Amino acid sequence: MLKMLQAPKMTTMDRRGNRLVFSGLAGFLLLISPSMSSLYAQEYPSDVIRGKTLYARHCLECHGSGGRGDGPAAASLKVEPADFHRFRSFLKSDEELLRTIEHGIVFSPMHSWRGQLTDEEMQDVLAYVRLLSQQGQ
Ligand code: HEC
Repeated sequence: MLKMLQAPKMTTMDRRGNRLVFSGLAGFLLLISPSMSSLYAQEYPSDVIRGKTLYARHCLECHGSGGRGDGPAAASLKVEPADFHRFRSFLKSDEELLRTIEHGIVFSPMHSWRGQLTDEEMQDVLAYVRLLSQQGQ
């Protein structure tokens, strides 16, 4: 138990061959820095990235690239596509929005995506919709 509490130590050589010892926090940071940089390289979680592709393919024409309900097809619709930035949408739970994506809305251009998207894809696209609604565009 005591051993586990000891500060981690790392030994390495510098360019002139001197032995360098990193202990404590410095050693710890050196140990985790490769995994941290790969975390930063990935800008968003994978579901959001997959969701973005799905959104562009299936939802953008109505909901618009920024999720404001102003896609190229929006003007010709009888019912305005939802603006995800509006409080009304923002306040809805993930479950509620997922239900709409899955089943659609009656008498609305927002049809059901069940059968066209898998459960996972609907989750991914929702993750992207949530991201859009948090962005100020
Ligand atoms: C043909 C146009 C069209 C397409 C394509 C479309 N939607 Fe919609 N969507 C609408 C309309 C219109 C509404 C608003 C319906 C209403 O209020 O009756 C809506 C509403 C929604 C809502 C409900 C928002 C709320 O606040 O309740 C969600 C969530 C949604 N759409 C997600 C999506 C996703 C995800 C896709 C792509 C997989 C998509 N939509 C594709 C037209 C579209």
